[in-house]
Amino acid sequence: MSAVHNRIEVMHGVNLDQLGRRDPAHYGTLTYEQLERHISEIAATLELETRFFQTNHEGEFVEHLHRLEGLADGIILNPGAWTHYSYAIRDALELTGLPAIEVHLSDINAREAFRRTSVIRDICIGSVSGKGPDGYRDALEHLRLELSDER
Ligand code: DQA
Repeated sequence: MSAVHNRIEVMHGVNLDQLGRRDPAHYGTLTYEQLERHISEIAATLELETRFFQTNHEGEFVEHLHRLEGLADGIILNPGAWTHYSYAIRDALELTGLPAIEVHLSDINAREAFRRTSVIRDICIGSVSGKGPDGYRDALEHLRLELSDER
């Protein structure tokens, strides 16, 4: 019998717990809790299991990645500003060996120059930005396809 590969770890980084208070022009109006609900509802329709993690501490984000072995089949991550410069998160993501998709609510390519750099993009199987909460649907669908190919 083939194993089920449907466990998606959804990880949010620095300042994303403040959604709802951040500039709605970039980030919309959902709070972090509402965003989690939105993502888990989409995941359920795709028969994916989600687990959520958010922290404002880079080391905790890194250590959470370290601990994923055997607990997740794929990762969706929005590291917030760490996206643009954290080689520590990049290295930790790489060592998981799991397929990962980066998601950004805002269009990081159409804002300040520093946001155009993502130090994780090239080790992710996909990158979604500028689609708001619906970007997570794209990421979940992409991972579902990826994981069904592995079966
Ligand atoms: C973000 C984009 C980042 O540039 C920013 O620092 C964030 C959120 C997004 O979801 O659009 O905190 O990752």
